[in-house]
Amino acid sequence: MRIAISTGGGDAPGLNAVIRAVVLTAHDRGWQCAGIRRGFHGLYDGSGVLTLGPDQVRGITHLGGTILGTTNRGNPFRWPETLPDGSVVERDRSGELLAAFRREGIDALISIGGDGSLAIATQLWRLGLPVVGVPKTIDNDVVGTETTFGFETAVATATDALDKLHSTAEAHDRVMVVELMGRHAGWIALHSGISATADVILIPEIPFDIELVAEKIRDRDRTGKHFAIVVVAEGAVPVGGDVVLRSRAGAGENDRLGGIGQQVADRIGELTGKETRSLVLGHLQRGGSPTTFDRLLALRFGSAAVRAVAEGAFGTMVAYDPPTVTRVPLDEVIGRTKTVPLDSGVIMTARHLGISFGD
Ligand code: F6P
Repeated sequence: MRIAISTGGGDAPGLNAVIRAVVLTAHDRGWQCAGIRRGFHGLYDGSGVLTLGPDQVRGITHLGGTILGTTNRGNPFRWPETLPDGSVVERDRSGELLAAFRREGIDALISIGGDGSLAIATQLWRLGLPVVGVPKTIDNDVVGTETTFGFETAVATATDALDKLHSTAEAHDRVMVVELMGRHAGWIALHSGISATADVILIPEIPFDIELVAEKIRDRDRTGKHFAIVVVAEGAVPVGGDVVLRSRAGAGENDRLGGIGQQVADRIGELTGKETRSLVLGHLQRGGSPTTFDRLLALRFGSAAVRAVAEGAFGTMVAYDPPTVTRVPLDEVIGRTKTVPLDSGVIMTARHLGISFGD
């Protein structure tokens, strides 16, 4: 039995722990593992696959990134190809990929990825490839699982940054606006914002009115608190408005979000007259060593994925349904986004703590 492992999409702390657990669990059964480089690129560009055994995964549980590399430009169904005139078009190269799997003697694929990579995995499974998915995203927006590895680490990084901004905001009587990741879901902004005592949290699930944000800040001023921390998820939208894009998607890519934090800061400055600064925490949220929780979840996911292969549970994704690691059909996962439920206890807690969502 020879299992291929692929890591696709943006990286998340804990990927290496998944890889280690897959390899050691497979080794325990006398199976072999092959790590595909950079998503599926290794099967296209000749860089090939890495034979992974216990020696290759030693000492990587605590490391961020992925020893296999990853890419968010590696969709075999939408492969970007540059034409002689310089333009880039998308091509379906899934047939070549399936042929490469056969050539490499791969019996099953464990695909570790977020919504995009899991959708690709599902398409490959429908074409006959035995696939098990492992959910990965710092955004925590994959449905069917309570949480994903990498999310807690990202929240810890964001919380630490917000804590640090408090003292400088207070020292200068300033408003600090911090843009955090979260394309479609505001989990990182919500969890870190509450934990770090933000005054305003803007998330994609709750369109905001900038007047109400300004009013919250004026309110603080009136009660002698002359500084404020405003947390904005990159996918947050004003009422009736649109997400702010840094750049439009090229062939085989996703749109790049970014800039809403600066826009919110500019408007707060205009409306309140207060000195306002903004920063984007960006990819810091994806880096570093996974927290203990994320390591353990990643190790459990990797090990459970191999058990799913052993039981022939293809077309499924391992998932966390506390306290159990379980499986859900990939068909129930893809094309959907796990957003923050507006009636959740976490949102209610934030409101009771006096945090404004700008609504
Ligand atoms: O999907 C996770 C994520 O962190 C999003 O929140 C963010 O928009 C995206 O990755 C950015 O990815 P990249 O800069 O790698 O294109």
